[in-house]
Amino acid sequence: MRHNIRRALIIGAGTMGAGIAEVLAKSSIQTHLFDVSDEAVESGLERIKTSLAKAMASDKITNDARLAILDRIALTTDQEVTKDVDLVIEAAPENLELKQKIFKALSENNSNAILASNTSSLSVTAIAESATNPERVIGLHFFNPVPIMPLLEIVKTPSTSNEVIERCEELAREIGKSAILVNDSPGFASSRLGLVLGLEAIRMVESGVASPEDIDRAMELGYRHPMGPLKLTDWVGLDVRLAIAEHLEREVGPQFAVPPLLRQMVEDGKLGRKSNEGFYLWEGKTAKPKK
Ligand code: CAA
Repeated sequence: MRHNIRRALIIGAGTMGAGIAEVLAKSSIQTHLFDVSDEAVESGLERIKTSLAKAMASDKITNDARLAILDRIALTTDQEVTKDVDLVIEAAPENLELKQKIFKALSENNSNAILASNTSSLSVTAIAESATNPERVIGLHFFNPVPIMPLLEIVKTPSTSNEVIERCEELAREIGKSAILVNDSPGFASSRLGLVLGLEAIRMVESGVASPEDIDRAMELGYRHPMGPLKLTDWVGLDVRLAIAEHLEREVGPQFAVPPLLRQMVEDGKLGRKSNEGFYLWEGKTAKPKK
């Protein structure tokens, strides 16, 4: 039987890149985790170790499995490894020029690998334009926390080949994710719908409809969302949500207009969980009301 993906390279060792590396390595894929500095890759590895310790503590994996997963992950600051992989997943910051530069270099260094972006809203078609053969470029959009969230959103451009789509669908099965297939369009299916709820919740705080906790409880207890839209905004990062909203406002229309409160909070450095304050005060994974 043909092996689908045996070796992969993840570009970017932040929250998403580290999570993606963990799930690939768990499925017996030799995984290189790349970032631009030793500190960045080391901090990615620390995230993976913490996550695996949690999985082991809740009997999701054995200690032997944990060690085997870690064994399959190699840290690198050298893009030379690109030559030797079947799949690259880019999880770099959401900046089109940066991603185009990365895809140009990747495609010149390896003429066969599937080249995927984990972008949550940028145009995969625009990213693909920089690659030497855009038929192998695709969006593979994972969700945070990657080891836990069951969805993989596969984003195809008009150029993506059927073979690449099929291999990505097979990859989703191999790593235990459920795939949806979406045509490249602003915000795809997930970010476009998720943003509507998140931005409207912020507008409701602005106009004093209810407290952030009560708006969240409306969705948590009334609609069974695991997290209300404001807690989720804190979880994802207000800066991340702002960047997606600006992009969708430009590309789709005024329903994505940025609420002034969101812009103000980002300017004030209230980025959510990562800065310990957003719509809530955060201590690690725990959100507390602000008053
Ligand atoms: N591997 C495997 N399983 C793991 C694991 C790992 N590394 N770490 C934890 N788990 C398991 C736990 O054992 C637990 O299993 P059980 O349910 O069987 O007990 C389960 O995963 C949940 O773990 P926790 O108890 O730690 O998590 P929780 O119950 O506190 O839930 C949450 C946390 C999963 C984040 C939940 O609040 C949630 O689903 N929130 C919504 C998250 C969301 O919407 N994410 C999408 C954000 S948008 C995005 O990411 C896209 C973008 O582009 C910005």
